[in-house]
Amino acid sequence: EKYQELYRPQVHFSPKEHWLNDPNGMVYYNGTYHLFYQYYPGGINWGPMHWGHATSKDLMHWKELPIALYPDSLGYIFSGSAVVDVDNTSGFGSKGKPPIVAIFTHHDPKAERAGRNDFQNQSIAYSLDEGNTWVKYRGNPVLKNPGIRDFRDPKVMWYARQKKWIMTLATLDHITFYSSPNLKDWKKESEFGKHLGAHGGVWECPDLFPLTFEGKTYWVLVVNLNPGGPNGGSATQYFVGDFDGSTFMPLNKDSKWADYGPDEYAGITWSNTGKRKIFLGWMSNWEYAGQLPTEKWRNAMTLPRELSLTKINGELILVSNIVRELDAIALKPVVSKAALSINQPEFKFEQKLPGQFKMKFSLDKLTTHTLKFQNDAGEQILIGYDDEKKHYFIDRTKSGVVNFNPNFAKIVYAPRLAITSNSDIELVFDYSSVELFADNGLSVMSCLFFPHQPFTHLTLVNNKGIILKNLEIVPLKSIWK
Ligand code: FRU
Repeated sequence: EKYQELYRPQVHFSPKEHWLNDPNGMVYYNGTYHLFYQYYPGGINWGPMHWGHATSKDLMHWKELPIALYPDSLGYIFSGSAVVDVDNTSGFGSKGKPPIVAIFTHHDPKAERAGRNDFQNQSIAYSLDEGNTWVKYRGNPVLKNPGIRDFRDPKVMWYARQKKWIMTLATLDHITFYSSPNLKDWKKESEFGKHLGAHGGVWECPDLFPLTFEGKTYWVLVVNLNPGGPNGGSATQYFVGDFDGSTFMPLNKDSKWADYGPDEYAGITWSNTGKRKIFLGWMSNWEYAGQLPTEKWRNAMTLPRELSLTKINGELILVSNIVRELDAIALKPVVSKAALSINQPEFKFEQKLPGQFKMKFSLDKLTTHTLKFQNDAGEQILIGYDDEKKHYFIDRTKSGVVNFNPNFAKIVYAPRLAITSNSDIELVFDYSSVELFADNGLSVMSCLFFPHQPFTHLTLVNNKGIILKNLEIVPLKSIWK
């Protein structure tokens, strides 16, 4: 059967075969979520980039389609976005038949080898058949490189108030905003971030979108960073502020992390979803993405997450929660308890864990504890909270195959941002990953692991006694069956 290989994610998108990195061109249209992605059909390592394509009606079940964009004389097809050009500003379609327009980076490997600095340029392509086939614009590139080596990953949105398109572009160590009336002619608006936020590496894959909180609209600027993430390697930072059609003004000089775990990168949101903002990341890390021990394909996406804002200590924080569509693959809980009071330091659950599942519980008072997920091969992943350090952690040092890269076997941390004494914890386990959403999505971590068999036993370790409220372990149906 398909999608049955060792380590194959059962509830996350991964390509049937070959290499995958960043999500690209995510756009919702006519009831379908499109997911394009950085794809190399020639093997399981990064190579000349194409845009792969998959679609879903429910954000869970994906259908892989033929490759959407191939490299051409202008270069490889690097990351970018897609929009529905409703008013046909580009002229590629008609009013009744709006084109979907993809805006992406053309990366010219020859120019790069020749030692030039202007080998990354922005280009466009359009589709008149809902993303099935694409025509590249003859006037490409539409935004030429001014001499910045890292000049890429355009994320475009319609700024209705001024009836213009805004492109958020990663330009080495800052963001440059451009605007356009028609997606073809671009004008520079402003720069942001040279000395703000995290700069342990290059800025890549940005996103800019509004979110409302208590009736007021704020703008979130997402900036992916590689390396320099909180647990090493690549990660997604964000700023909250205001945007006036030209300039982004942050409320804070510091950025925060959308996901503290080691394995979420290049995360951005779907376009054309209205007020709802749905985020998806590449579930990997450039530190070792090319060495993961899979054979047929390499790398997968995170689960889609719905974003919102909340205020903690007067600061606006981005909240991520698994989209409600996950319910579509939820089976009958195998554990369901209003309250489970545990008094022994090591409590072994009798229930054998299903292959992939969601686990959730609440604590009236969050205290130090560890959930030990183990298999019969002596491998384990530990997930818990340290009340002295006030952080959540995931320990994958003994989680199975870890020796493919020296940076993989480690304990990773996420600070606790919530200030309440109670806590809600949700985990989604797939064959080779876990995603932690603590405090209703305030502290989030995505983390890969490669056990020889699934983790089937659970032990809860704590030192003071603990009461798990509304505990549920819900098996998830494979999205490939
Ligand atoms: C981020 C990234 C992008 C680039 C793409 C190339 O992971 O480096 O900046 O467009 O991957 O595959």
